[in-house]
Amino acid sequence: MSGLSTSMLVAAATAQRASADIDRQDATIARACLRRCGGAGTVLLRLIDHALGRAGLAVLERLLLPGLRAHYAWRKRRIANWAQHACEQGVAQVVMIGAGYDGLGCALAQRHPQLQVYELDRPASIAIKREALNELCLHPSRLRLLAVDLARTDAIAALRDCADFDAGRPTLCIAEGVLMYLDPARADSLLRQLAQALADPSLIATVMASQAGRPGFRREHRWVHAWLQRRGEPFRWGCARDELSQRLRACGWQLQTLADPEDRLDPDPSPGEWLFLAQRPDA
Ligand SMILES: C[S@@+](CC[C@H](N)C(=O)[O-])C[C@H]1O[C@@H](n2cnc3c(N)ncnc32)[C@H](O)[C@@H]1O
Repeated sequence: MSGLSTSMLVAAATAQRASADIDRQDATIARACLRRCGGAGTVLLRLIDHALGRAGLAVLERLLLPGLRAHYAWRKRRIANWAQHACEQGVAQVVMIGAGYDGLGCALAQRHPQLQVYELDRPASIAIKREALNELCLHPSRLRLLAVDLARTDAIAALRDCADFDAGRPTLCIAEGVLMYLDPARADSLLRQLAQALADPSLIATVMASQAGRPGFRREHRWVHAWLQRRGEPFRWGCARDELSQRLRACGWQLQTLADPEDRLDPDPSPGEWLFLAQRPDA
């Protein structure tokens, strides 16, 4: 994989947070993935491992998108808590859509001996993740890595190709930081399929907020938009807060909890991405 991607930025933020509030294993996985991401991954690792590099990254962040790394931490903390609660409540399968270099799937499979976890991502990212987990001897047999280009292939078809996947079992789907990169019709169709094909589904997902009709973070510099375009990862759609329920309903989901970016005790450090929990209305 060449060049810098958004999944590498998230992984670098995870690796940098290692000593603070997250499981060290997540950081170990993120580092092992970055080591396999070619020159850009190596440079990112060098930067986060040196005081001067970290200072440079902090300045860049302040100029381009203040609070981005803390935003990742904010959303990952909530997702991990919601997913843990869902597993304790009897979810039997977790489907992570666009899992990238995140360690949550691995951690959940280790923690819950009956749980099956399926991670879906592009073939290049899956190859990197597979090698990284093998190197670390961190590949539980109940964690399946599926190479799927969601822009072309149906997630459900890919899951059904797995002998142990059972659409009849309670299933938590997690789509963190991925739906915005899909064409809006494709994202809707993915959500609709998950709601229809799974007997007992729940959903944790994020979608970009719309700022003056354009998807993006509230405080992002216009260069961010240009960089994402150049990287081939533009935010393709976003949604205003009051449109989210309706959009989910049209795809067969009912919004249950929206993480409040203005939470008095734990506000989102860089608002612009909605994080929510949804159920099917009949659940
Ligand atoms: C910003 S990263 C988020 C990764 C991870 N969910 C996290 O939050 O740590 C976006 C992820 O979505 C994946 N992705 C984007 N478009 C995709 C597509 N068409 N098919 C499969 N995966 C895709 C990328 O490869 C990448 O891993």
